[in-house]
Amino acid sequence: MKTIDVCLSPELMHLYDVRDRTVVVVDILRATSCIVTALAHGVESITPIEDLNTCKRMKRKGFIISGEREGKKVEGFDKGNSPFEYTGNDIRGKRIAFTTTNGTLAIEKSKGAKKVVIGSFLNLSTVVKYLLFGENNVLIVCAGWKGKVNLEDTLFAGAVIEKLKKHIEQDCDAPLVAQYLYRAAQKDMVGFLDNSSHVKRLERLDIDKDIEFCLTQDKYQVLPRLRNGIITLS
Ligand code: MLT
Repeated sequence: MKTIDVCLSPELMHLYDVRDRTVVVVDILRATSCIVTALAHGVESITPIEDLNTCKRMKRKGFIISGEREGKKVEGFDKGNSPFEYTGNDIRGKRIAFTTTNGTLAIEKSKGAKKVVIGSFLNLSTVVKYLLFGENNVLIVCAGWKGKVNLEDTLFAGAVIEKLKKHIEQDCDAPLVAQYLYRAAQKDMVGFLDNSSHVKRLERLDIDKDIEFCLTQDKYQVLPRLRNGIITLS
């Protein structure tokens, strides 16, 4: 039977050998939710970039430059990190260069994996189906917040494990932690996350509507995949 494990923070990546695994990168609030939304709305590709200046320079190459620092759109950038900025016709067929505090770092750290896919609640069932039929062991990499564990990415891991529980064996205890948490939260995820640190951060920025959107399950049936440093639909 295939196995599944959960890396609760990118800081723990050194503990996992990902060369033979399919990695699912998740940053529910909000990087991977934005990536899924943008690709579902016709963006050609998303290039995740770790540092701000490299991302800024991509503008000259014809990219839309987007992302956040401390949750806020970066000065001079075309777009920030709200999924609602990635639903319009202005992005159709465009290439986006994207940098965020935690999400793009988690993607960068996953690059050595056999396969890398982008997960969110918005495309949960599509991710689950892909993992079910894939042949590799699985690692879910939670972006967390600046190296620390967060609730929302752990909940996503728990949702995947709950759906795959009859078909995949859990490796170590992190999948159990995630699964128990998801079971406790699933009836009211918005309420469950009310006290979480990033929800509070986003509420301070007056962007509560993003939270509900990012917790919506199966709005899109897309599977973004990272290949050669670029995310596209498979
Ligand atoms: C991140 O990558 O750290 C997040 O997506 C932050 C945010 O919500 O803007």
